[in-house]
Amino acid sequence: MEIAVIGCGYVGLVSGVCLAALGHKVTAVDVDIKRVESLRQGIVPIYEPGLSEMIKHEVAHGRLSFAIGAAKASATADVIFLAVGTPPAKGGGYDLSYLFDAAKEVAKAATGPKTLVIKSTVNPGTGSKLAAHTSHKIEIVNNPEFLREGTAIQDFMQPDRIVFGASSPEGIATLREIYQPLIDKGYAIVHMSRESAEMTKFAANAMLAMRISFMNELSQLAQVIGADIESVRIGIGTDARIGPGFLKAGVGYGGSCFPKDVQALVHQMKSIGIDPLLLSGIEAVNTRQKNAFAKRILDVLKDTPNPVVSLWGLAFKSDTDDIREAPAFDIIKALLEATSGKITIKAFDPQAIENSKKVLGNKITFSDSVANATTGADAIAVVTDWAEFITQDWIKIAKLMRGNHVFDGRNCLASGKVSAAGLFYHAIGRPPLKPGDIRPGSVGVVSAG
Ligand code: UDX
Repeated sequence: MEIAVIGCGYVGLVSGVCLAALGHKVTAVDVDIKRVESLRQGIVPIYEPGLSEMIKHEVAHGRLSFAIGAAKASATADVIFLAVGTPPAKGGGYDLSYLFDAAKEVAKAATGPKTLVIKSTVNPGTGSKLAAHTSHKIEIVNNPEFLREGTAIQDFMQPDRIVFGASSPEGIATLREIYQPLIDKGYAIVHMSRESAEMTKFAANAMLAMRISFMNELSQLAQVIGADIESVRIGIGTDARIGPGFLKAGVGYGGSCFPKDVQALVHQMKSIGIDPLLLSGIEAVNTRQKNAFAKRILDVLKDTPNPVVSLWGLAFKSDTDDIREAPAFDIIKALLEATSGKITIKAFDPQAIENSKKVLGNKITFSDSVANATTGADAIAVVTDWAEFITQDWIKIAKLMRGNHVFDGRNCLASGKVSAAGLFYHAIGRPPLKPGDIRPGSVGVVSAG
C-alpha cells in the first residue's frame, strides 16, 4: 500500500518508519525544508532509541522516503496519515490549524478517493468537523497512537491493541489492510466509531495521568504519617482490578501528552457546560507535587548560605531528549524564585542538555557529567530516572559533595546505598533515611505457597 505521512515530528516519524517496516511504501512529508533535508541525509532530529537505525534501514530498502509539502505525496498515496502537531490553543483546547491546513491540501491534491487517517491527538468530534470541510471522496478515520517516548517503536510494533475509529466498511477495510501484518501476529484490534476512538485516546491519557496524580496526592499523606508510598503502590498494584502500571509517585508527570490532553479535556467539558470535577484535580495535584519537591529542598537548605543544588535530569522522563512540560523546569523556576536567584543549580542530563540550554540560557549551570554536576553540591535532586543515575557509586558521589542531602524525586535510587554512603536520603512519600540508616522491612510480594 502507498502511504503518505504528513508531519515528521515524533508521532509522524515513528509511525512512518514502522508502517514502512510493515511493508508499505511510505513518504514522510513535512513543511520544514531543513528538517526534510537533514532526514534525507540520515540525521534524525529527535532522540528515540532505535529510530535512527530503523529509518536508515527502511530508506536503504526503498520503503521510506522524505518529501517537502503534502500535495505530491498525497496525490499518489492511497492512504494519508495526518500526524501534524496539535499544540495547545491560547484560550484552551487545541490549535487545530495545522491539521485543517494539511487536510485541505490533501483534499486539493486528491484526484480519486482517499482515506485520511487522523493520528494527531484531537478533541472528540474533530473528525466530523474535518469531514464537513473536505470532499465526500475523502474517508476520514481515526487511529489514535499510544506511543510512549523511549519505547515508541516497540509500542507501535507490539501494541496492546490498535484502535480503529471508522464507521464505514471501506474505512475499516483500509485500516485492516494497513495493519494486516500485526493482525496476523495476533495483536488485538478494537473497532469503534470515529468519535469513540477520538475519546479513547483522551480517556487513556487522562486515566494514566489520574493514576499518577492519585499516587502523588497520597504520597503527601504518606510523608506526614510515616507510611511508604512504594509499599502502598505494590500493595494496590497487585490487585488484579487495579494493575501495577502508572502508579509511581514522583515529581509529577510531564511530556507532550498528559498535561496538554488533560487540559484540553477539561476545557472541552467546561465549554459544553459539564463541570469536570475529577479531571480538574489531576493537573492541580501535578502542579502541587512539583512545588512541594522544590519546597522540601529549600526547607532543608534554609540555613546553607549560597546553596548549590546538583540537578540530575532535565528530560520529562528517561530515554528521551524531550523537555516539553518537564517537571525539572518548574522545579528550577520555583528554586530560583524562592531564593531570588541566590541558589546555584548545576544540571546534568544524558540527552536533554542542548534542548534545555535553549530554554534556560545562563539561569543555571549545565554540566557534562554527573560527577561535574555533583562537585561542591550541598544537595542532589534527582528529577529524571535515567539508568545512569540509578547505578551511581554513592561512596564516590558523597566524596564529591560539599553537603550531604539527596532528594530522590523519582523514588528510583537504592536508598540503603545512599544512606550507607553517609548521606541523608529524602524520597517522595517515603520515610527519610539518615546517614547509616537501613530501611526496615523492605517490601516484597509474598507468595501464598
Ligand atoms: C504518554 C502515553 O503513555 C502514551 O500512550 C501517549 O501516546 C503519549 O503520552 P509519554 O508522554 O511518552 O506517553 O510518557 P509516559 O511514559 O506515559 O510518561 C508520562 C509522564 O508520566 C512522565 O513524566 C513520567 O515520568 C510520568 N510517570 C509515568 C510517573 O510520574 N509515574 C508513573 O508511574 C508513570
